[in-house]
Amino acid sequence: MEHGSILLHGARVTLRDFQSDDVDAVHAFASDPVVTQWSTWGPNTLADTQAFIADAAAEAGTPGRTKFTLAAVFQGRLVGTAGVWTTSAADRNGEMGYTLAREVWGMGLATETAALLLDLAFGPMRLVRVEATCHPENAGSVRVLEKNCFAFEGRLREHRLVDGHRRDSLLFAALLSDRARDQPPSDRALSGRVPDKLAAGSTAPLP
Ligand SMILES: CC(C)(COP(=O)(O)OP(=O)(O)OC[C@H]1O[C@@H](n2cnc3c(N)ncnc32)[C@H](O)[C@@H]1OP(=O)(O)O)[C@@H](O)C(=O)NCCC(=O)NCCS
Repeated sequence: MEHGSILLHGARVTLRDFQSDDVDAVHAFASDPVVTQWSTWGPNTLADTQAFIADAAAEAGTPGRTKFTLAAVFQGRLVGTAGVWTTSAADRNGEMGYTLAREVWGMGLATETAALLLDLAFGPMRLVRVEATCHPENAGSVRVLEKNCFAFEGRLREHRLVDGHRRDSLLFAALLSDRARDQPPSDRALSGRVPDKLAAGSTAPLP
């Protein structure tokens, strides 16, 4: 894997590609049943986390990648995962998600992490619509999305099959057209080896 091939800096959070030695740090929160209570995955076994890191590392080395599974780093410590991926290159649609370790909840870090993901999505990935879904009782995640100007679009009935049970999800979406295009965020920056344009098949100018 190319170390540091993606690096996004917020005021406090940095998002970077995963490294093979991140397994222990990720497993510490990915195996926490409180952290994963609203997720479609987990709590992870060690093998689950090892597979997650291996997949993320493979994805990081893929030319023209359209999926970014990144480590969230705060004060030099890996405290979460954040992902954004293209769901339709033709439509320039994508989806995103995030998970943070319990000890850093309530500090505004997820709000900042989501903002960084949107910078990547609406910038180098050239997406125009980014969706996020969450469990109807996941009030924290709903608030993170609202604070990032996602609009609630509806309830997806029996959307997920988790532990043998179907469950609803709430659907939110953020649109590029809802963003002030001429006002780049002052406290965030895309840097490192982020190319100007990442998404394969999205070479047409923005509408
Ligand atoms: C949901 C999650 C990402 C929130 O992370 P966080 O860093 O604590 O969020 P922030 O500190 O940025 O808080 C953002 C807002 O949500 C609110 N909030 C956070 N957790 C909350 C909760 N459990 N209930 C109600 N509101 C909550 C905060 O008060 C804040 O709102 P405010 O600024 O109006 O006060 C975190 O709890 C988490 O990782 N949970 C497990 C994984 C998960 O559910 N991921 C999302 C899957 S859709």
